[in-house]
Amino acid sequence: MSETIDLMKRHTSVRRFKDEPIPEADVRSMIDAGRAASSWKNFQSYSVIVVRSQEKKEALFQLVPQEAIRQASVFLLFVGDLNRAHKGVELHTDAFYPQGTENLLISSVDAALAGQNTLLAAESLGYGGVIIGLVRYASKEIAQLFRLPDYTYPVFGIALGKPAQQHAVKPRLPYEAVVFEEEYREQNAAVIETYDRVQADYAGERAKESWSQRLAAQFGQEPHPASQENLKDKKLG
Ligand SMILES: Cc1cc2nc3c(=O)[nH]c(=O)nc-3n(C[C@H](O)[C@H](O)[C@H](O)COP(=O)(O)O)c2cc1C
Repeated sequence: MSETIDLMKRHTSVRRFKDEPIPEADVRSMIDAGRAASSWKNFQSYSVIVVRSQEKKEALFQLVPQEAIRQASVFLLFVGDLNRAHKGVELHTDAFYPQGTENLLISSVDAALAGQNTLLAAESLGYGGVIIGLVRYASKEIAQLFRLPDYTYPVFGIALGKPAQQHAVKPRLPYEAVVFEEEYREQNAAVIETYDRVQADYAGERAKESWSQRLAAQFGQEPHPASQENLKDKKLG
């Protein structure tokens, strides 16, 4: 195995951090590594807001009560961004159609690839972190807090710092349940139930509900409306 593959397979989310700053040069190298990710047509349809001040982290924590945010040395907000695209388009035409599923996929996928690269780079430097998608449940308030303009929206954040906890690597679904040769192979409930048991063994006493119960809690109800409402506000919905 290569060192890179080894690092990638050792990944675990870290949600508790030591009270130690991350040197500016390290923050910059992580984000630069993130920015090296591929992007749709090289449009780089995302922006990153670097949050270092405790005041801003506390304000964010009030909106998204995740302890990792408050403890993070640095919090990075990944923003889906078609605002720069608008500026480019305006050089050529008055027409601008940033709305719709395809454009949302373009900017969200770009942000996700850059974010994942950033997190891996952080891990390679001995830091830990966790992606915080729950920022989307407070999309409008976050848009206000960070003064996000039209055609932008929060996708996720990453809380980063020196790890103050270490978990075992979380087991994934079996390879064969996720990766298929030549054509899709629909899975049956037995695969899910088996993975429920794998997850329960992994989580031990910490497990409050099974993996499939968490699926039901997420997808057994209407999606949270905050992202959609904010996208409308930002002329993207
Ligand atoms: C898009 C996305 C959003 C996430 N949002 C949160 C979050 O809001 N809070 C949190 O504690 N973890 C969050 N996570 C982390 C996942 O829970 C975690 O990656 C998953 O359980 C697998 O565990 P591992 O990263 O330790 O392997 C998020 C991960 C992704 C990819």
